Amino acid sequence: MNLAIRYYTKSKKGNTEKIAKHIEEKINVVALDVNHPLEEEVDTLLLVNAMYAAKIDKEIKQFLKNNKDKIKNLININSSASGASTYKNVEKVCDECNIPISDKEFHTVASWIFINKGRPNEEDFERLDIFLKELNLGE
Ligand SMILES: Cc1cc2nc3c(=O)[nH]c(=O)nc-3n(C[C@H](O)[C@H](O)[C@H](O)COP(=O)(O)O)c2cc1C
Repeated sequence: MNLAIRYYTKSKKGNTEKIAKHIEEKINVVALDVNHPLEEEVDTLLLVNAMYAAKIDKEIKQFLKNNKDKIKNLININSSASGASTYKNVEKVCDECNIPISDKEFHTVASWIFINKGRPNEEDFERLDIFLKELNLGE
């Protein structure tokens, strides 16, 4: 299966990057930021993103628009401080771009300013490993 990982991280904590790099290590696929277009069609894109001001960032939207013809299936992997998922926001852009999105997603609570210190933590990453395993992507 042809896989790619793309992420967009905004805060200095780099939570999304940490999650993306964890996946990189687990499934042995390089995680690149959204400034890197897809070079070829992928069976599955793991899109790692986060919630900002109750939305996804425009960089994520732009990446999906620019690469829509190369994504056969998208899996949403995301974090937020509140516990709210970005799934609906990502799904909306996918619908506009005709990108199939899996109903399976991974979400974790993450740190922001003074809240959720240390998240994602070891337990969050263990849950992520289980999620990857269930997709048959992990070891
Ligand atoms: C500018 C900004 C706005 C945010 N707005 C929200 C928000 O509306 N709701 C929420 O649950 N979390 C919000 N967060 C928290 C982020 O979703 C969370 O910290 C995420 O892990 C950030 O990922 P990053 O470190 O890769 O940028 C916000 C964070 C930042 C930096």
